[in-house]
Order: sequence, then structure tokens, then C-alpha cells
Amino acid sequence: MAEAVALSMSMGSYLKNSSLQATECSRQEPSSSLRSKFLGCKLTASQASLQLPSIKHTRRQRPCVIQCSVVQQSQVQAPDSVFITPDGRRAECYGVFCTIYDLNEVEKPKSWKKLLRVAVSGAAGTISNHLLFKIASGEVFGPDQPIALNLLGSERSRNALEGVAMELEDSLYPLLRELNLGIDSYEVFRDADWALLIGAKPRGPGMERADLLDINGKIFAEQGKALNAVASENVKVLVVGNPCNTNALICMKNAPRIPKKNFHALTRLDENRAKCQLALKAGVFYDNVSNVTIWGNHSTTQVPDFVNAKIHGKPVTEVIKDKKWLEEEFTETVQKRGGALIKKWGRSSAASTAVSIADAMKSLVTPTREGDWFSSAVYTEGNPYGIDNDLIFSMPCRSKGDGDYEIVPDLQINEWLATRIKKSEEELISERSCVAHLIGQDNGYCDLTEDTRLPGEQ
Ligand code: LMR
Repeated sequence: MAEAVALSMSMGSYLKNSSLQATECSRQEPSSSLRSKFLGCKLTASQASLQLPSIKHTRRQRPCVIQCSVVQQSQVQAPDSVFITPDGRRAECYGVFCTIYDLNEVEKPKSWKKLLRVAVSGAAGTISNHLLFKIASGEVFGPDQPIALNLLGSERSRNALEGVAMELEDSLYPLLRELNLGIDSYEVFRDADWALLIGAKPRGPGMERADLLDINGKIFAEQGKALNAVASENVKVLVVGNPCNTNALICMKNAPRIPKKNFHALTRLDENRAKCQLALKAGVFYDNVSNVTIWGNHSTTQVPDFVNAKIHGKPVTEVIKDKKWLEEEFTETVQKRGGALIKKWGRSSAASTAVSIADAMKSLVTPTREGDWFSSAVYTEGNPYGIDNDLIFSMPCRSKGDGDYEIVPDLQINEWLATRIKKSEEELISERSCVAHLIGQDNGYCDLTEDTRLPGEQ
């Protein structure tokens, strides 16, 4: 079914595929498989005639409002005549109206890769509102990678989620083959190849950090269980919802079927922020800054590493001679950039977060440039830097572009770095202790210090 649904007006392949879609749907009686798979769906004629993507609303929802296709076979209008034009295109005529298809374009999707299913939680939120369009456009996975988007919202965000889906439809992305909306992670994560866990409860006024860890931890424990039960066995999981390192750890611990290496927490945003500051200070363009590592937690203890970073291939410390600036202003600016943005916007960063999620994914599906690396918070088991073995900790990684990665060994860890990396490690160990009840460990206790703050908290 997934492969059969097509959206491409511009590709010209849609009629073929959408008539498949129409046939499939028209075969369905009210109790047929389409209906039983997606409860409450009433079929309408609009989708087939408008060539829109199939939007399915998963279980536990009110009756759908946007669906695929036609009710009766008799509603599929057969063309009065079909012929090939002198320049090799196929024409189908309905009375005076003819639709012409470029047969080369019809062939194109046949060379595409197998459908890739990307599940996104917090899909009605602001970060997703930037991110989904990047994924659907092909920017992340390339121009020959068809995408299915499975969007997880909440009861409260139902309308907004449908709004996002409508905008995705209206964008006519040829690579976007399927959209599924739902509020049940066991439905939405089914067969996911990627899970982008963006939704999380923000810390409210007066809320203790331990409470935030507990509330969000429960969400991520549940989502880990759902991924374990229904996602593809090699699903790549990127946790964005804060506190993302510990949420990723909780998610991983609740998904024993999925390789631990597949879990990431987002620190690419911090890497991008660090590159930006270094480029501005050195007066160079961003892409001349490389080898930037963020060590540790996505919090104010994170360590943006200027010791191993390079500008124009030279150590940053040879280009920016102001050591005090590097150790103090640069470090603190990156650590607290989230808070500075909240002051300006009145809400957390969204567009740059979405960009960094796309960057983080691209880093895993594109070979890393020789000699360079990227930052991602990954499972520490067996890591070459002596970090505690059971954390999700940001480190330098490189990838062959196959979705997997290795931790880059042998970075120079001087005393300045070592002291700060230790502090971030201790913070993550404290966070882990607070969520012991969610990761199957006994005797947890929670005594978070003031150091444990998200970048957005001052
Ligand atoms: C950010 O780094 O911008 C966010 O993680 C800030 C926050 O606290 O939500």
C-alpha cells in the first residue's frame, strides 16, 4: 500500500499511481482493510481527483477528515481516449480535456530507493514545522529517496497536526509518498526507519528539574517501549526533547531490541553555535571552521572544544590568539546560547534546531569529510575517552554514510578540557541517578545541583 500511493503532480507519475490508489480504496467496502487499519476513516472522492497524498489517521482518533480516494469503482472515470503524442508523451482525454504525461518522468520513481519511514514526535510543534519540510523536500536523504512521514501529536494538538499535514500536501513534494497522523506511539512508530523524538514537556514555572526529568522520562520510557515493539529493528533514534541526553538514555534502556548505538541526543545545534562564534571571531566564513566537538551534556556544562577545532585547517588557538576569550566568553556564549535566544524570541530556538537536526541526520547518511568529525551524544559503552560506560554523552563521531558512526579517538584532552568534561559527566551521572526507576536500576536518588541546567535556563 505504502509504495502504491503517489503524490507527484510535477513528476507526472501520479495518475498511474493514484489510479492504483483509487482502485485500492474503491475496492474497500466500509469494513475493508483500509478502514479497519485506520479506524474511523470515511473515504471521500477528493483525494484521488486532486492527486493528494494519502493521509491516514491512526487509531484512537475521531473520524478522519482528510483521506484517500474514492468510494465506488464507478466514480473512477476512465479516459475516453489514450494515445502517445509525437514527442513520446502519453495523453489521456476526458471529453475535451486531455492530460499529458511525460513518460520519462513516469519512469523516474522506478529508480528511486525503497521507501524510508520517518516518525516524528512533537510533529505539530514549531521545530517540526521547520524540519518536516526539509525532510519531505529531499534535503536530508537525497533526491532519489522517497519518504513516508509518520507524525505523532497529542489529543490537544490534533488540529495543528492536521494543519501541518495539509501544508505538506500543498507543498507537492514528489518524494513525499505517504503521511500518517496519530496520537498513539505504537501506531505511529510502526516500521519506522528513523524516529525523531522532538516532543517533550518544557520546564514550567516553579517546576523542579527532578520533576522535569521524571515527567519527560516517563514519556521517553513509553516511547522507547513503543519503538522496541513496532519500529524497524535498525531504527535510528534522535532525541531532541530536553533533557535530551538523559531522555535518550531512558528511551534506549526501554528498547532492548534496538542496537544501543542507534540512539543519539542532539548536540549538533551546539556544534553549529560554536562554529558560528569561532567564524565570527576569526572573521572567516563558517565552512572554514571544522573539527568542532561538543563534549558532554546538552546543558550549560557542555564543553565546546576549541582545543582540537580548526580554522582553515589550522588549530583554532593559532588563529584566535585570545585564550581568555576562548576559555571564557566563547565557552559561555555557546553553553548559554539557548537562553539568549529565549530572551529574544520568548520561546526556545526552533528554526536553527530544525536545521541542526537535518545536519545531524545528514552526517549519518553522508560520508564524513576526511579528517573531520561531527558531534553527537551517543552511548558511551567502550568509548576511548574513559567516560562512564552507561551514559549518552556528546563526543566526536564520524560516519561512512551508512547510518552508523564511530567515535573518533585520539583527540588531545588537555587539563582545561579534562576538568570541564568531568563536570559534564558528573552532571549526567546525577541525572541518570534521578531516573533510575525508569531505566531498570535500583537505589537511585536525586540530588541535582545547580549545574544541571538546560541551555535555555539561566
Ligand atoms: C536550546 O539549546 O536552544 C534549547 O535546548 C533550550 C531549551 O532550554 O529549551
